[in-house]
Amino acid sequence: MTIGVYPGSFDPFTLGHRDILLRSLKILDKVIVAIGINHEKDNMFSVEERINIITNEINDIDNISNVEIKPFKGLIIDFASEMKATVLIKGVRGPVDYDYELQMAGMNSVMNPNIETIFLISKPEYSFISSSLVKQIANMGGNISKFVSPRIEESIKEKI
Ligand code: PNS
Repeated sequence: MTIGVYPGSFDPFTLGHRDILLRSLKILDKVIVAIGINHEKDNMFSVEERINIITNEINDIDNISNVEIKPFKGLIIDFASEMKATVLIKGVRGPVDYDYELQMAGMNSVMNPNIETIFLISKPEYSFISSSLVKQIANMGGNISKFVSPRIEESIKEKI
């Protein structure tokens, strides 16, 4: 059984995140969505809220039993190894993500050569979506309906 870990802040979980998760489920037996706990970041949603939000976002998919959602602290490579995962999944939207992710994939592979990073290239319609920009647009009264689900749009509106 091949287990993958899909790490991120997911604050909020966007349509792009959902697409990467669904695509990774086609190539892996199980995917753990790993929510990084970073107290320095000014998050809109608590970790518990993000777990609930992501659970609701994927409750319509067929292979739901192949997904787990867990928070993690510290190095992702250590969390992956604790979870017996052998794959790290990263969504790459463009050259900026690629440069950063390439460096992390390289360092992670030195720290643990048994864990492979796979890059899934974002679909063009999602390649510009960023959680930070979604929050900025929402905070300034803009329309975020093309970037997140209607349910998440509501949750964001409740926060601002
Ligand atoms: O969605 P984000 O904010 O880009 O996700 C950030 C996250 C949680 C994926 C990132 O902060 C992370 O991987 N943290 C773990 C720390 C780590 O392993 N650092 C070493 C990388 S070589």
